[in-house]
Amino acid sequence: MTNPIYLALDLPRLDAAIALAQKVRGHVGGLKLGLEFFCAHGHHGVHEVAKIGLPIFLDLKLHDIPNTVAAAMQSIHVLEPAIVTVHASGGRAMMEDAKAAAGENCKVVAVTVLTSLDDADLLRTGVPGGAHDQCLRLADLAQEAGLDGIVCSGQEVGAIHARWKKGFFVVPGLRPEEGRSADQKRTVTPRAARDAGASVLVIGRPISRAEDPVMAARAIEGTL
Ligand code: C5P
Repeated sequence: MTNPIYLALDLPRLDAAIALAQKVRGHVGGLKLGLEFFCAHGHHGVHEVAKIGLPIFLDLKLHDIPNTVAAAMQSIHVLEPAIVTVHASGGRAMMEDAKAAAGENCKVVAVTVLTSLDDADLLRTGVPGGAHDQCLRLADLAQEAGLDGIVCSGQEVGAIHARWKKGFFVVPGLRPEEGRSADQKRTVTPRAARDAGASVLVIGRPISRAEDPVMAARAIEGTL
């Protein structure tokens, strides 16, 4: 079994991000680089991190007209990412064009509802019915558009997996049992997310902020 853990390299400095990734490389299956990293370090930063030899997940959450998103996908093609994210709310045509423009070995996955939005926030954007329903609706749309999968929380992955058996599910917001804290109420453990159907487990701070990141990564790996 390949290691499903993708380490989120959410560190402002490129040298620190590379040093962390090098330390834990034997205990994670891939590296996730977000919009923050990409805006700060661009293609150069991705090339440097790619030298570590692990698959790269570019979490850019693209959302624009289909033509622009397709052009952006073509521009990152050269980086050979294993996974790229787009927003499902960009619509079916945008997702179809994103997938068509992606490399053959690149999984395109859709963000459904950001976990920073609650039902009241969604209502103010004109979406009634709540985050859970909207998440399922957008997951269905992503599936119809021919995407590989979606990003969702550990609490939703079971329900979505039941509707989309072959989907590729990226699950962030995970906390190992002993690392759970009071301000993280809606988290699940990496193992629970895996059991519910997650394909990729995105883990950041439980590893990057641990006193010993290698031990932390090994411990999580050991629970899977
Ligand atoms: O919380 P942690 O540091 O493990 O987060 C890892 C990554 O997952 C971050 O890049 C963060 O942006 C993303 N994340 C997310 N949705 C959440 C929690 C975290 O997309 N609910």
